[in-house]
Amino acid sequence: MDKFVIHGGRPLKGKVVINGAKNAALPMLAASLLTSEPITYHCVPALQDIITIKRLLSDLGVIFSGSDPLTAQAAEITSCHAPYELVRTMRASILVLGPLVARVGKAVVSLPGGCAIGARPVDLHLKGLTQMGAEIRLKRGYIHAEARQLKGTEIYLDIPTVTGTENLMMAACLAKGETIIRNAACEPEVEALAKMLKQMGAEIEGEGTDILRIKGVEVLHGTECTIIPDRIEAGTYMVAAGITGGEIYLKNCCLEHMAAVVDKLQQAGLIIEKKGAEVKVKAPAVIKSTDITTLPYPGFPTDMQAQFMALMCLGDGVSVITEKIFENRFMHVLELKRLGADIKIDGPRAVVKGVKELLGAPVMATDLRASASLVLAGLAAKGTTEVLRIYHLDRGYVSMEEKLKALGADIERVPA
Ligand code: UD1
Repeated sequence: MDKFVIHGGRPLKGKVVINGAKNAALPMLAASLLTSEPITYHCVPALQDIITIKRLLSDLGVIFSGSDPLTAQAAEITSCHAPYELVRTMRASILVLGPLVARVGKAVVSLPGGCAIGARPVDLHLKGLTQMGAEIRLKRGYIHAEARQLKGTEIYLDIPTVTGTENLMMAACLAKGETIIRNAACEPEVEALAKMLKQMGAEIEGEGTDILRIKGVEVLHGTECTIIPDRIEAGTYMVAAGITGGEIYLKNCCLEHMAAVVDKLQQAGLIIEKKGAEVKVKAPAVIKSTDITTLPYPGFPTDMQAQFMALMCLGDGVSVITEKIFENRFMHVLELKRLGADIKIDGPRAVVKGVKELLGAPVMATDLRASASLVLAGLAAKGTTEVLRIYHLDRGYVSMEEKLKALGADIERVPA
């Protein structure tokens, strides 16, 4: 298990290119199950989670070639079984459920189970598919879903689940009749998937809104698509500039998808400006303590909460961070405290009192974004910070240490 060794305190300067979004690429790759024709993808990020979904899809019959562009073709579905070993390592594996039932009428997918950031059930995925006529049984840790022909219906989601909306939207594309999904997730990644499905011949209205209307079609076709820029990676590098007193330029950054994050970073004092095709991010002299509450899109993303908290550790006052999406997403707090942060947890709220400086120490995180927050804090901390178990970071950030090094950070990947 590799670790990062960071000698903090260097202001970041220079340019960084943002990769394609992991959370857009995963459902778009799963959508390859919906057609026998080839799909060509541009800008798929080279990440561990992408390797995992490719492995799963290959097991199901998808044949991949190339890397950028990457081509996927599911001429035939050879298996409809998503095993525990893969689903356990990546919850997004559940995204094969809807497409498999829609295309071949059957899927056996491991239940994801708990994870470091909370219970994360998939009940809404199952409720929606059941309403579409699928018969669902849970047996020995597996979801067994069957449907000779899914039928269009009206689905209301209690919570606007992201992968749930994606699963049901993909299934509805090949169902008979019209499906309406109310309280659908509006995340840019959901919208990107809808656009891709439309290019494949799906009839979808309302993408990017909370009501999706999908008229089922007989078959979907191949297409060519480009993965949208990763708004969470972009937000993480913006914080990196702010927390180190730096000035950086982001390439391939879509500010339209980042309104809440940009607004809060600006309230914290960062200067964020569009400069032609690039986005300039400049740190303030003083980081202003700012409150945030995580919410479904277009609210502040839970996937940026930990990184924003790292910034607030060096704020000029008190910041209240409220986590409303996942019940257990403060795993980074104790580790940030090891670096000298002053944080108290009060239920779903973390109260962060800014300190003058952070001091390097060994730290370890249990999830992807928590690990990112520790790297950010380490970049600002005095002395040496070791971030252990960085395999979490490799799931979601392409060559993070290389990109940070190119911006002037003193960071090394060391086999632990
Ligand atoms: C997706 C993202 C993840 C992000 C999250 C929230 C992908 C691959 N992952 O995860 O990075 O942190 O959205 O923006 O896109 N819930 C239920 N029942 C369900 C489904 C969800 O109660 O059937 C609850 C969850 O426990 C959670 C909330 O709904 O409290 C939101 O979860 P959801 O949007 O489903 O997250 P994911 O799609 O798993």
